[in-house]
Amino acid sequence: MIPINKPLIGLDEIRAVAKVLRSEILTQKGGFGPNVVEFERLFSKYVGTKYALALNSGTSALHAALLAAGIGEQDEVIMPSFTFVAAAEMVALTGAKPIFIDINPRTYCIDPNEIEIAITNRTKAIIPVHLYGLTAEMDAIMEIARRYNLIVIEDAAQAHGAEFHGEKAGKLGDMACFSFYGTKNMTTGEGGMVTTDNSEYADAIRSIRNHGERREYNSIRIGHNYRMPEMAAALGRPQLLKLPKFLALRRRNAGIYLDKLSNLKELQLPTVPEGYEHSWYVFTIRLLRANSAKRNKAVRKIRQRYIDSQVYYSMPIHWLSYYRQTYGSIKLPKTETASRQVFSLPVQPGVSEKKILYVVNVLKKIFS
Ligand SMILES: Cc1ncc(COP(=O)(O)O)c(C=O)c1O
Repeated sequence: MIPINKPLIGLDEIRAVAKVLRSEILTQKGGFGPNVVEFERLFSKYVGTKYALALNSGTSALHAALLAAGIGEQDEVIMPSFTFVAAAEMVALTGAKPIFIDINPRTYCIDPNEIEIAITNRTKAIIPVHLYGLTAEMDAIMEIARRYNLIVIEDAAQAHGAEFHGEKAGKLGDMACFSFYGTKNMTTGEGGMVTTDNSEYADAIRSIRNHGERREYNSIRIGHNYRMPEMAAALGRPQLLKLPKFLALRRRNAGIYLDKLSNLKELQLPTVPEGYEHSWYVFTIRLLRANSAKRNKAVRKIRQRYIDSQVYYSMPIHWLSYYRQTYGSIKLPKTETASRQVFSLPVQPGVSEKKILYVVNVLKKIFS
């Protein structure tokens, strides 16, 4: 099987983790171990923000960012439903209400035109998700956010290295949350990061990740144990140094698909609007005019040829039982159509040019 995504671990990573294991400092009070501090320094430099705060997952990064923003009961947070459940789940965990809005059917990211319609006097924040590695329309989103005094938390879990008009994902909102889960563009096994230019948010997150402490035995707020272990941070450093190379290979692979599949009329290939740099977490295609049965049949055929095609996301969040039962039934037509028609192909750096051409041939046979 050609995997949809897999970690690329080399000797550098193995040596870095072994060194931590030998040092016997596996974690340090407050999450300030030497490897964590160094990983944060490199990550903030890469993204271009003043601060980067390491946590133990992308989900905990989202939770900490929401708590730092003061989101809680009675508040509403606008976000897409066409994404992984974590952001909505963390909003719900703060006691606030996720308000799901529809997407732009070309980019699969939230449609800024839908934001203003959803704003009420309870709205506190917007979470744009840079889905599949393409940033949301951040200029329009920030303009609306500034006008209504809303906080913007980017969900950049799939967008390490993506860019929007020359700025990196992670520097586009008030805070941004990354994931270093095992299959992401770079990994620490499990791990997360919040990037921000705001010193108050950065201070709050440092404290939230360590039981709300400001100093030892002085918890000034509710927090958690969201500290990143030293082994994870040690793994993150070589992964971050390799990220530009990984991204170049992802872009090469995506470029081949875009070139060779462009004349298949049944397929809508991903779009990369002017001024955007995609980070190609996955290469997501829409089978035009299909229902889910037809799409699923096509995915089965691709998988029979040992290509790990996957559907992200066949169930938008507003269809998941907890969210439907808690917040009621809503309709998001563009999200629902996308959930029936999309499927993703491997584009990851471990896939050679030859294998990408094999995938192209398989798709040409199935869809011509
Ligand atoms: C869009 C999105 N948000 C949040 C997360 C949560 O990250 P993690 O798995 O590191 O908790 C993920 C990935 O898993 C994701 O894809």
